[in-house]
Amino acid sequence: MSSAVNVVIHASQFPEKVRRDLLESLRARQVNHKFHYDSVKQTQKWLALHQAYSPTRNDADCQAVYEQGFKAAAAKIKTPRVHVIGLGCGGGQKDTRLLKLLKAHDKEVFYTPCDVSTAMVLTARQTALAVVPEKNCFPFVCDLATADDLEKVVGSARCADRTPQRGVPTKSSRLLTFFGMIPNFEPQIILPKLTALVRPKDFLLFSANLAPGADYAAGVKKILPQYDNPLTRDWLMTFLLDLGVGRNDGELRFKIEDDRANGLKRIVAGFRFTRARRIEVDNETFDFHAGESIRLFFSYRYTPERVRKILARFGLEICDQWIISSEEEGVFLVRRSGVSGERR
Ligand SMILES: C[S@@+](CC[C@H](N)C(=O)[O-])C[C@H]1O[C@@H](n2cnc3c(N)ncnc32)[C@H](O)[C@@H]1O
Repeated sequence: MSSAVNVVIHASQFPEKVRRDLLESLRARQVNHKFHYDSVKQTQKWLALHQAYSPTRNDADCQAVYEQGFKAAAAKIKTPRVHVIGLGCGGGQKDTRLLKLLKAHDKEVFYTPCDVSTAMVLTARQTALAVVPEKNCFPFVCDLATADDLEKVVGSARCADRTPQRGVPTKSSRLLTFFGMIPNFEPQIILPKLTALVRPKDFLLFSANLAPGADYAAGVKKILPQYDNPLTRDWLMTFLLDLGVGRNDGELRFKIEDDRANGLKRIVAGFRFTRARRIEVDNETFDFHAGESIRLFFSYRYTPERVRKILARFGLEICDQWIISSEEEGVFLVRRSGVSGERR
């Protein structure tokens, strides 16, 4: 294995842009959730948290549900080559299981781990190398929410190492993944971007955290305590602590919020200052007063029906779905709306 890796970095994650986004988050008192994955330290904290609490790592039923989704997607792909594009790949564990299954179906696999965090992209690449040859792996760093030319860049030859022998062959199927991403974005911001990335012949595997049961409000209330644990608190607080806020400057609180425009509910984590604190970034001063709050994080909870409706609004159609028995997570096989079943 070579000791150097080519990583393509999109302008949406160039330092000056990231700096602007940070200042914007502090001015608005609403932290863009990408800042919770910014540093190697935060990436490691999130990976530890994911390992400890994610049902995909700890619940056999959840793993089986993902496996069913992977098998269904693999069965639909008829070409001998598949390019998996992991949008918000995180540590790449789910994508790697998918790649493994595709390989077991005798597919030649290519992988573009794509994330806002360079540390995540490199972790996902490392995980995937158990299955994908190094020459078929094309790490890509970008901000999926703000970049507006991604359909031309993600997964294209421009993403690849441009030596003549390398790159993704044009005659390969594309399978995009968007696992655990939708909860942390305003749907009207991210879904048009996602739709633009899905070409008519592509498949998209999508997963969402769900509110269990027939009563939506009661389902969201039921899962609220899952967010309030020491590893999540530690991970979320890292952003503020790194800016010079003290643990004793206030209190981290979790609550349920209504997004009436989208007919959705989300869990929101906010830090409420109990004493005044000044933060300085790039010669800009931010004064937080006692009693003031900054939103650190939100996580939408959907129901399968709400997923279907919101995807349809943005031109995406569910072909199949698998829901875990606790009804707290679901995997969806998705295509562009109006694309009929078996075209490959
Ligand atoms: C909840 S994790 C999901 C990771 C992985 N897909 C999984 O299911 O295990 C969210 C991921 O989205 C990435 N992310 C956050 N904001 C992003 C953005 N604006 N553009 C691209 N990736 C982003 C984070 O770095 C993190 O890896």
